[in-house]
Amino acid sequence: MARETIVLTRGEVAAQIDLQEIVPAIEKCLAEFEKGEDLLPPKCIVDLPGGIAACLTGYTKATHKFSMKMGQERKGNVERGLPTIFSTMNLYDPDTGELLLIVESVLATMYRTAAAAAVAANHLARREAGVLAVIGSGQLGRQCVRALSRMRPFRSILLFDIRREQAERLAADLAEEAPAPIRVTDAEEACREADVICTATNSTEPIVRSEWVREGTHLSCMGADLHAKIECRPELLPRCRLFADKVEHCLQRGEASQAVERGILGKDCYAGSLGQVILGQVEGRRGRDEITLFDGIGLGVQDTTVAASIYEQALAKGLGRRVAFS
Ligand SMILES: NC(=O)c1ccc[n+]([C@@H]2O[C@H](COP(=O)([O-])OP(=O)(O)OC[C@H]3O[C@@H](n4cnc5c(N)ncnc54)[C@H](O)[C@@H]3O)[C@@H](O)[C@H]2O)c1
Repeated sequence: MARETIVLTRGEVAAQIDLQEIVPAIEKCLAEFEKGEDLLPPKCIVDLPGGIAACLTGYTKATHKFSMKMGQERKGNVERGLPTIFSTMNLYDPDTGELLLIVESVLATMYRTAAAAAVAANHLARREAGVLAVIGSGQLGRQCVRALSRMRPFRSILLFDIRREQAERLAADLAEEAPAPIRVTDAEEACREADVICTATNSTEPIVRSEWVREGTHLSCMGADLHAKIECRPELLPRCRLFADKVEHCLQRGEASQAVERGILGKDCYAGSLGQVILGQVEGRRGRDEITLFDGIGLGVQDTTVAASIYEQALAKGLGRRVAFS
């Protein structure tokens, strides 16, 4: 008999899935991806009358699972009082084709993205890094604070958002959970004081200025996943040793893509991928004064990995509804 499908809502993921279990899974995913045995078909984008539908798929050998994530963006939903993005992900057993999991995947995407930011900081930040700054206090910023603050024994966490009340709400929400005091401040102070800066905004104007970033800082830049988005002033980038989740993708759509287009950086600007650093194939930080920057735009294999981790956790904890589709 076919296995039942587990169905998990966003609320169930938020309340019952442990983000910290996803971090090592994403680390393994990024390393294994370098071995070239995973499958990452091109995205399928459909321009529907009301907005865009995007389908991402991926198979990873490490999980031996296949996932399909379908997202729907409808800008007009603001007037309807609905979220502008809906997304669900299916996880399959590639041998039998059984559907193992259906999970709301806006939050799952934030989890895998924040996990990648944390893995990058763990590999690239200085050992003694004591101050974490997270720029952007939306959905992604929230999970970045949660994932990154557990990576290192930070003394303090600084938040900046262009909407101050958003940052204040996040600071209040995470005050008990966070392992260090959280303070809301402005962009300049956050960057000047930080040893690790994580950017998680949807900005199309640069926020982080070069002169605010001290030598020895690490940046995990996660918000710019389209060419039009940017979070750091282009002048900062030549000072940094750059890493990507996938170099070819980041050259087109990542944090450095505008600097490459303007000729500020060459197409050889990335030292390598984070996966190569994890595998020891490319040197990460080469000295305490070096500025390192991870440009992560997200990969379908990370979706498969987060779905597989959620599935394992749901099985182990008996979570979700079980549906027998056939
Ligand atoms: N790299 C990836 O794999 C990945 C995955 C998911 C989301 N994203 C991207 O991350 C970004 C954030 O997503 P989200 O769901 O958290 O969005 P969100 O709307 O929930 O939050 C964005 C936050 O950024 C703040 N902001 C915007 N411009 C700012 C500025 N100039 N300075 C400071 N704060 C500013 C907003 O006020 C808001 O609080 C988006 O661009 C999204 O596409 C990337």
